[in-house]
Amino acid sequence: MEQKTIGVGLISVGWMGKVHTRAYTSLPIVYPELGIKPRLVIAADTAPDRADYARDVLGFESSTMDYQEVLAHPDVDVVSICAPNFLHAEMGRAAAAAGKAFWIEKPVGRSADETLSVVEAADAAGVETAVGFNYRNTPAIEYARQLVADGSLGRITNVRGAFFADYSSEPKGALSWRFIRELAGTGVLGDLMGHLADLAHYIVGPISEVSALTSMVYTERPKLPVGQGTHFAVIENGEMAPVENEDYAALLVRFGQDAAGAGAVGTLEASRVAVGPRAQYSIEIYGTEGSVRWDFERMNELEVALGRTGPTVGYTRVMAGADFGDFAKFQPGAGTSMGYDDLKVIEAKKFLIAYTGGESLNADVHDALLANRVVQAAEDSSNSGRWETVQPVEGTTSARQAV
Ligand SMILES: NC(=O)c1ccc[n+]([C@@H]2O[C@H](COP(=O)([O-])OP(=O)(O)OC[C@H]3O[C@@H](n4cnc5c(N)ncnc54)[C@H](O)[C@@H]3O)[C@@H](O)[C@H]2O)c1
Repeated sequence: MEQKTIGVGLISVGWMGKVHTRAYTSLPIVYPELGIKPRLVIAADTAPDRADYARDVLGFESSTMDYQEVLAHPDVDVVSICAPNFLHAEMGRAAAAAGKAFWIEKPVGRSADETLSVVEAADAAGVETAVGFNYRNTPAIEYARQLVADGSLGRITNVRGAFFADYSSEPKGALSWRFIRELAGTGVLGDLMGHLADLAHYIVGPISEVSALTSMVYTERPKLPVGQGTHFAVIENGEMAPVENEDYAALLVRFGQDAAGAGAVGTLEASRVAVGPRAQYSIEIYGTEGSVRWDFERMNELEVALGRTGPTVGYTRVMAGADFGDFAKFQPGAGTSMGYDDLKVIEAKKFLIAYTGGESLNADVHDALLANRVVQAAEDSSNSGRWETVQPVEGTTSARQAV
């Protein structure tokens, strides 16, 4: 079969940089029928050991400490942007200006305005984009979305979501860039609530109004230089500095009239300091005829309740299998589990199908703008004490793609 080679440039070789690289590498193995062969051309990281690692271990042909060299490289067709949040908008706009399609990590901007600047740059340049909203690629979530779209759950009445992680539950957990407003923007709102808002948008439709409160549980943490360690690092006797963004957020939301769940309401919570949940990212969708609930800690399972009467009324636990999204691409039968990195392989597939002129099934910067507007409305509401409106966004997945 003829193979189409796509030159890949990587910006930043941290956790996500590695995961994107593994996704490109796995893509031809998992999806040979696409005839797409990613070529790892050049990677950039300002930390020299990470740049070296990209070349010597990940297999990039060359490496640099200057991301502009990635964008200027003539053999680079698509770019992965995996830098800390404060660099996303600058890098996204620069990729668009260089005419390169890009797959960028969330949140695209520290504020909705920053994300809008990337949307405008990508639209003006006509480049394809993808955003790291990986949870929507979970086969169980794809199936849940189908049940909402085909009416199996009846009229959607309410959504309950909670993205609870413990990555900062240790008070001596490092003050990584994630806790500094200039570098990250918001805290758990941009980090986890953006994912949850996107899932709600993907399954149910756009959120139109938000009322929120936020809280900070730990006000100072030991410092950690960018490019060292991870946000899971614990530092004993380190120099302390202030945390600048929220640890916890709770939102009441209303869905817009153009949503599959028009008129539905919901509660969405996020915490990065919970003790107990490790990465308990859950969403529950309730309808007049049925309900579904899913939790990332059990990502290969979906609980489904269909119908209101009869002896089997109530939730049934279903293991993801061949009928669920791309599951069969990864495992031959139900019960053998997929993992987090597999969701990124699906994300890479959606991105490169769109890049090569196929259907646009990927989350893109328009979806990121909508999620960011929910986050912004939540922050505004937590300051004002009032409900805040979420300005609609054109060109999101639900507008582009029927289930
Ligand atoms: N989709 C998801 O589930 C998910 C999960 C984790 C992180 N993320 C997102 O991915 C992004 C990166 O997070 P991470 O955990 O990989 O961070 P990380 O701290 O592990 O890595 C960031 C890397 O960026 C490098 N860097 C800093 N400045 C640079 C510059 N000017 N040019 C090139 N490289 C530079 C650092 O040296 C470091 O290697 C964040 O925006 C985060 O929100 C998404």
